[in-house]
This record gives sequence, structure tokens and C-alpha cells, in this order.
Amino acid sequence: MSLKDKINLQKLPKHIAIIMDGNGRWAKGKGKFRIFGHQNGVKAVKESAEACAELGVSYLTLYAFSTENWSRPKDEINALMELLVSTIRKETSTLQKNNIRLKAIGDLMDLPPKCQRELQEAIEETKNNTRLTLILALSYSAKWDMVNAIKQIAEKAANHQLHPQEINDMLIDQHLSTKDYPHPELMIRTSGEQRISNFLLWELAYSELYFTPVLWPDFTREHLYEAIFDYQQRERRFGKTSEQVLKP
Ligand code: IPE
Ligand code: IPE
Ligand code: MG
Repeated sequence: MSLKDKINLQKLPKHIAIIMDGNGRWAKGKGKFRIFGHQNGVKAVKESAEACAELGVSYLTLYAFSTENWSRPKDEINALMELLVSTIRKETSTLQKNNIRLKAIGDLMDLPPKCQRELQEAIEETKNNTRLTLILALSYSAKWDMVNAIKQIAEKAANHQLHPQEINDMLIDQHLSTKDYPHPELMIRTSGEQRISNFLLWELAYSELYFTPVLWPDFTREHLYEAIFDYQQRERRFGKTSEQVLKP
């Protein structure tokens, strides 16, 4: 029996975020170069997106390249950017077929122009799709996003468009690159690392965190079902007591 049958479709997370980690170690374990791991990670991206779309999860955010990843060796960065371009080119028709809308968050202007073009084209082409929104975090870090948001808010305050007393949770939300999406209820990280690595610091404030030792290229839809099932067994209290949460 697939774990899929155990998932309560009435209690699905609307938004799942994933830190796709472990490509390098996966490749090393096979005596190959790191990029071989990245190439083999594409399959896991496809499986996760298709599984989310089939189940009825509305948003999937994938951490694909962080601000800090720019410090990696040039060769690896170039290969990753090439992989991004070729994957988008190859997969846009599948996104269309599966009614998946592509979006991106991050400092996209820092991506090579070819990447930016390819990404924008795919975003434009899939913009009317409605089943799943797939958000790629590229050249993204939560601190970068928060600094940007604070700059915008400070400018508005300086221009008297906004009074500092009006700054609240919601206003900050509206100035982040994730403003159009609900906060993720579930965050998954593969490869056994148990850290956030500058991913969605604000938005993960009350997310359920799920860590699995599985390396990203080995991550299948069954692993995703397992994470969702685990999430569904948890009691989300948001600061309240268990009794309060259970009261009808
Ligand atoms: C995640 O895998 C992919 C990116 C960060 C681009 P890694 O490349 O970090 O793989 P490990 O963590 O070194 O195994
Ligand atoms: C986090 O993975 C970023 C992505 C998955 C894109 P890293 O492998 O870069 O994270 P750290 O540096 O080991 O925490
Ligand atoms: Mg890593």
C-alpha cells in the first residue's frame, strides 16, 4: 500500500517548502562529480511537483540556489545555471500539461541573463495555470528578502506614505517576495542536515519542520507522502493549550 492512501486529503498543507539538499554527497558516494548529483536531482523536483499537484497541494517552494551558494566554485555555479536553463527549456511543456504555474523568488537580477530570460519566458507561458504554483527560490536568502522589505518600508516612512506605528506583521508580509503566497505549513529538508540555511526565516515562524536523511536525488513521491503523513499526526497549537485546540 502506498502511504498516499493514508493521507487525509481534508488536512493537506496548502504550501510545502523544501530545502533540496545532498546532491553533492549523493554524487560523491557514487564516485562522481558534484554536478552529477545536481543533474540527478531534477527527477526529484519533477516527482515532488507532480505529487503535490495530484494531491491538491496549492504551493510548492523549492530552495534551488541560495545567496550563499554564490561562494561555491565557479565551475559548479556555471554548471548549475546551465542545468537550470536546460531544465526549464525541457520541462515547460510538462508544466503546461500538468497545469502548473511557475514562479521565482530571489535576487533574480544576479542570475546570468540567459537564465533570467528562460525563467521569465516559462513564468509568462505558465501564468494562467491553476493547479499548483511551483516557486523556485533562486539566488534567494531570507535575510536578503527582509533587508529589501525593510528598505522599502523605511523609504515609505521617510516619504510620509506610512507612519511607523502602522508597521505590523501584515505590512511586513506585504513587502516580502513571498507576499502572494500563504506561509508554508510544512518545511522539509533532505540530507540529514537540521538547519534552515537562510530559507524563509519569517514565513517559517510556525511551520512544521520535517528532516529526512534521504539525499535529494533519492527523494521520491513516497518520501513526500511520508512527510505529509507525519505532518498530519502533529498538533499545531500556535501558542494555545492542547485543550483549546481540541475544543470544537
Ligand atoms: C543541494 O545539494 C543543491 C544546492 C545547494 C544547489 P548540495 O550541493 O548542497 O549537496 P551537498 O549538501 O554538498 O551534499
Ligand atoms: C541550502 O543548502 C541551499 C539550497 C538547498 C539551495 P546548502 O547545502 O547550501 O546549505 P548549507 O550551507 O550546508 O547549510
Ligand atoms: Mg548542501
